[in-house]
Amino acid sequence: MNVLVTGGAGYIGSHAAQRLLADGHDVVVVDNLFRGHARAIDRLRERAKGGDRLGFERVDIGQTDEIERILRERRVDTIMHFAAWTYVGESVQKPLDYYHNNTAGSLSLVRACERSWRNAHGGVRRFVFSSTAATYGEPPADRVPIREDCPQSPINPYGASKLMVERFLRDAVAAATRAGEPFAAACLRYFNVAGADQTGIIGEDHDPETHLIPIAIQAAMGRRPGMTIFGQDYPTPDGTCVRDYVHVEDLADAHVTVMSRMQPGECVAYNLGIGRGYSVREVIAAVERVTGKSIPVTMGERRPGDPPVLFADPSTIRRDLGWAASWTDLEKIIATAWQWMRQNPEGYKS
Ligand code: UFG
Repeated sequence: MNVLVTGGAGYIGSHAAQRLLADGHDVVVVDNLFRGHARAIDRLRERAKGGDRLGFERVDIGQTDEIERILRERRVDTIMHFAAWTYVGESVQKPLDYYHNNTAGSLSLVRACERSWRNAHGGVRRFVFSSTAATYGEPPADRVPIREDCPQSPINPYGASKLMVERFLRDAVAAATRAGEPFAAACLRYFNVAGADQTGIIGEDHDPETHLIPIAIQAAMGRRPGMTIFGQDYPTPDGTCVRDYVHVEDLADAHVTVMSRMQPGECVAYNLGIGRGYSVREVIAAVERVTGKSIPVTMGERRPGDPPVLFADPSTIRRDLGWAASWTDLEKIIATAWQWMRQNPEGYKS
């Protein structure tokens, strides 16, 4: 297939691009490099199999005309849409940036898909959207583990900005179907993505870093003096938040599985998680075991926008497509992040 990967210079997008190339697909990455890394693309080209089938366009997803051109020139039939702002805490501070980049940006991308249907090659037929567990908000205790039919009621602008995209994608698929266009969409609701590619070519490099596992590893490496646990009075067994950590390679695998099975007229939604939750304290203890270092920890206030418990019931995608996470051991997941960060202490600047 000819796949356009938005945000392909970022963490999850680069892993998906690598997997697509390995599977023999043609890939064009579209990234404005605001938070993505040109070096991620270089590394995929230099070292990954099939680098000559990888194109790169420094374009923002809001530039509809440019996107339209790329769809036409590259005869794109599938979009995997990763480009987004993804920090829960930041979204509370800057909600309009989140609605602009995530909601309006995605709308513009779907418009470009619609226009691509006039193209000789038929245009975009499959749209795989990076949604999030943050769309569920704070599910009642009897709805955890979370199934896809759990009410979606986000408690932060990040989750809300993504939920709106799920909503208009459903409508866009329905309208396309009525108009006789074979269009399909999939909303993949990620839980907490973690780890790195096993070859060490690409990995997680955020600036600023806000995610628990890389922060804990940085603290273990002495690259930061210590770390803070945001809240210890949550209604959980040890008082800290519980999350479901899914390996980024498993996530890439889920994307190609879904892509290969999408049927025209369908707009499906799947949870991507391992189906078990770990508390912040458990994650820090696991990082200490993997790195063999102790982490100086301070207790802090709750971070606005954090739900207490989020973990998936991943049985729908297993039932429908036979997909399940293969990385289910938290320490092994953390070990891949540790390897990447040891080999690339400055991230892509290393
Ligand atoms: N945490 C700390 N200290 C830190 C960093 C994080 O205590 O220094 C805590 C957070 O408060 C939270 C947990 O660790 O309770 C996980 O936080 P992350 O920032 O790693 O991840 P989030 O759960 O906030 O969000 C992530 C993605 C979102 C996605 C969500 C879905 O960033 O895009 O998972 O579960 F929506």
